[in-house]
Amino acid sequence: MRKYIVAGNWKMNTTVPEGVALAKEVAAKAKDLPANVELVVAPPFTHLSAVAEALKGSKVGLSAQNCADHEKGAYTGEVAVSMLTSVGCQYTILGHSERRQYYGETDEKLVVKTRLALEAGLKVILCVGENLDEREAGKHFAVVTEQTKNVLYNFTAEDLKKVVIAYEPVWAIGTGKTATAAQAEEIHACIRSVIAEKFGAEAADEMTILYGGSCKPSNAKELFAEKDIDGGLIGGAALKADDFIAIAASF
Ligand code: 13P
Repeated sequence: MRKYIVAGNWKMNTTVPEGVALAKEVAAKAKDLPANVELVVAPPFTHLSAVAEALKGSKVGLSAQNCADHEKGAYTGEVAVSMLTSVGCQYTILGHSERRQYYGETDEKLVVKTRLALEAGLKVILCVGENLDEREAGKHFAVVTEQTKNVLYNFTAEDLKKVVIAYEPVWAIGTGKTATAAQAEEIHACIRSVIAEKFGAEAADEMTILYGGSCKPSNAKELFAEKDIDGGLIGGAALKADDFIAIAASF
């Protein structure tokens, strides 16, 4: 059975006390959501322990926003997968466009990070998506296909059960400019066919594929109604508990 997920990527926002308050509010309000929707929050590294504590006893999952490409050692400023699991993370986001764009994250690095995360028992939310130039040049299907293959074709169908894909067109992130439901759906269907090609129809059918990019309460229902859109990776709107919950309630 395909899982529906709404995940909040807090990016580099909130102090620890603010993050704990937000997590508590999300946890309290999540109680009324239907059981088939999983909620996840991804605060900054500094918040993870405190947010894990705030989420105890709730149904809300905890994700990191990135992880190191080494197990441990002399890598100043990096955070290892074992550190993430030790504070109660179940997920890590990987390959967010902001990391690809500003921090030189490559598909090769993402293969290493994905492997480390899966071996540590973390589930991975792998982000893919084209930028504005690529979309305008009509290359969006090719870009997303290549990003998906470059990382996930190094894994097995069994590994893929622990992977969620998030399609985030870069031109829609933080811009207020959402992809239309039809634009998102055609890319989601393409990603699913890329998965089917290597791993078979069953693995493709079970893959959760999220949409991200200016998703908000006013457009979530239309997006989530599409057959290949299984939830959202939410930025700005995840910083307000009411908006985040309203998005999750759009299923
Ligand atoms: P916005 O929802 O703020 O556009 O951000 C989307 C995103 O990048 C989530 O990872």
